[in-house]
Amino acid sequence: TQLYRITLLPGDGIGPEIMAVAVEVLKVIGQQLDLSFEFQEALMGGAAIDAKGEPLPAETLEWCKSSDAVLLAAIGGYKWDTLPRHLRPETGLLGLRAGLGLFANLRPAKILPQLVDASSLKREIVEGVDIMVVRELTGGVYFGQPKGIFATETGEKRGVNTMAYTESEIDRIGRVGFETAQKRGKKLCSVDKANVLEVSQLWRDRITALAPEYPDVELSHMYVDNAAMQLVRWPKQFDTIVTSNLFGDILSDAAAMLTGSIGMLPSASLGASGPGVFEPVHGSAPDIAGQDKANPLAQILSAAMMLRYGLNQPVAADRIEQAVLTVLDKGNRTGDIMSEGMTLLGCQAMGKALIQALQSV
Ligand code: NAD
Ligand code: IPM
Ligand code: MN
Repeated sequence: TQLYRITLLPGDGIGPEIMAVAVEVLKVIGQQLDLSFEFQEALMGGAAIDAKGEPLPAETLEWCKSSDAVLLAAIGGYKWDTLPRHLRPETGLLGLRAGLGLFANLRPAKILPQLVDASSLKREIVEGVDIMVVRELTGGVYFGQPKGIFATETGEKRGVNTMAYTESEIDRIGRVGFETAQKRGKKLCSVDKANVLEVSQLWRDRITALAPEYPDVELSHMYVDNAAMQLVRWPKQFDTIVTSNLFGDILSDAAAMLTGSIGMLPSASLGASGPGVFEPVHGSAPDIAGQDKANPLAQILSAAMMLRYGLNQPVAADRIEQAVLTVLDKGNRTGDIMSEGMTLLGCQAMGKALIQALQSV
């Protein structure tokens, strides 16, 4: 039996609800494929602020570092929105990403045939969409210095963030972009704002300089404002997108909606070595927390990405992804992906349906 140590970070809002479902799914797949998971639950985000007075306690980061992979649900909520920046749940998440060196964030947006009608776009536009957003995760305007709210000479306050990338930061995410494209449709679109921003000019120059090393990949460049428009106009033009931290955050939410709901989309955050963090693209959805309404499929698919990218267990990942298709084929839907004639399920019931599907493959 292969033993894996997994740190679980259920976090806030719907986090604990969807995490409970994903853990049950992992236990079942473990039994089926003779994998053994040792789960260690740890505090992060608002839950950690309430219990320990800080969003990322040192012991949480230590546990994460010493595990084989980290499964995260979501953090944040109204309750903590007015705290000083260093005490906010989101700061804990950024600390986790930086602390583990997770510079590459893979966010697949693939439309499932069963959910074409759940998309807000027309069938002919979304049918067949299969995009991978490669988002830089530990640099750019999220981390650049100087940052802060400073007093000016007139006594007025000035808020400052700095969008900065070094050549080596661009190169390492660029390589992930090219390598990801090589394994997919061999088309890479690098998204920037090089017409205005120096940091983007350097980004474009470096990505262009890498291209000769990947002659089988067709590289294109696009400005981010146009990319946002093209994503909803004709998303099928995209295969792999590589972009910076903030642009990737925004574009991946837009790409998520092509697939019907952000409640469907998983992600993998990876570094050069060490454990990865696997989490849904969505947040803690405080508007539906505690009501058994959340869609657990993004969390379950994040567990599948953990098996595939973090633990090198592609068969287990395939089985979970197949089970997701099966439950959808049977007409099971949570509220966010509901359409006419389908069966409305809560979070737990969706989890049960998924496990049933898993047991019948
Ligand atoms: P959100 O993604 O939490 O919610 C946006 C909308 O999508 C809401 O209407 C919500 O109900 C819905 N939604 C999200 N996930 C869903 C699911 N699984 N099933 C059904 N519906 C779902 O974004 P927000 O409202 O902008 O942010 C809420 C909090 O989450 C904030 O504190 C934010 O900072 C945080 N956040 C955390 C993460 C993370 O932990 N990785 C990501 C994004 C936002
Ligand atoms: C995400 C979230 C985070 C981000 C926040 C909560 C820090 O929106 O994972 O997409 O901006 O990266
Ligand atoms: Mn986001």
